[in-house]
Amino acid sequence: MSTLSFRDISLRYAPQNGRSRELHPWVLERINLSIATGEFVVIIGRSGSGKTSLLNLAAGFIAPTEGTITVDDVPIAGPGADRAVVFQDDALYPWLNARDNIAFPLKLQHVASQHRRVRADELLELVGLADAGDRRIWELSGGMRQRVGIARALASDPRFLLMDEPLGALDALTRSRMQGFLLNVLQKSGAGALLITHSIEEALLLATRVVVLEPDPGRLAADIPVGFAGEILAGASPAQIKSSPLYKRMHDGLTSLINRNANEDAA
Ligand SMILES: Nc1ncnc2c1ncn2[C@@H]1O[C@H](COP(=O)(O)OP(=O)(O)O)[C@@H](O)[C@H]1O
Ligand SMILES: [Mg+2]
Repeated sequence: MSTLSFRDISLRYAPQNGRSRELHPWVLERINLSIATGEFVVIIGRSGSGKTSLLNLAAGFIAPTEGTITVDDVPIAGPGADRAVVFQDDALYPWLNARDNIAFPLKLQHVASQHRRVRADELLELVGLADAGDRRIWELSGGMRQRVGIARALASDPRFLLMDEPLGALDALTRSRMQGFLLNVLQKSGAGALLITHSIEEALLLATRVVVLEPDPGRLAADIPVGFAGEILAGASPAQIKSSPLYKRMHDGLTSLINRNANEDAA
């Protein structure tokens, strides 16, 4: 098992070179959060609460102003193959077919072409695209492209998959299918997941824990264990779950937690 930990993380962006010397406000304040492999942690919060900043810190794209981010107690020094990132509009390479897109990170790691092909075909199978390896990116639907992006992120066997609104651009039906797909793929890969979403429904259906960020400065308002994903993996339908009293109670609770103090902020 591996653990990704935020330890007393605070963040403020540095002023732009040569511009105003005025300091930016704190974006995140004393965040303590751990994600173990096998967990699916979903972060939710209003726009500007620091969700993307938190994910960029975990990825190692930016460094915290204070505190340390560790993987198994070792501080991270930047991006690493142990933490893969999936964005909402992930750029696939249009001049490569689906298989070669997935294999691309392995090529960068100088994995032999035969092994790359075997691994890419395994991943195509895992994401339900076993027959689409030879297709060009422009021949794939939005949901299929996003699955290729996720397969590519999994190519180097990351311990953690970091996802910023990965399903936000998909239509409702595709999005709902992709949620089931994500649960299955993550369960099979054994990786830990950190996913950002605007959708309370998505958070409740996917998460083993929902973490609520409150803005100005971003801080943890709640860390709530959730069990619906386990029921979906065991065969329950999302519609069944959404009609349960427990789901409705949790949905209402999260809605008021996220909107708490929103009017004061707007004033
Ligand atoms: N590169 C940056 N430089 C300065 N401020 C930034 C930068 N990126 C984000 N911010 C600010 O940090 C806050 C949090 O942003 P972000 O992490 O994108 O939040 P979220 O993803 O929850 O909407 C916002 O006030 C935003 O304006
Ligand atoms: Mg964001």
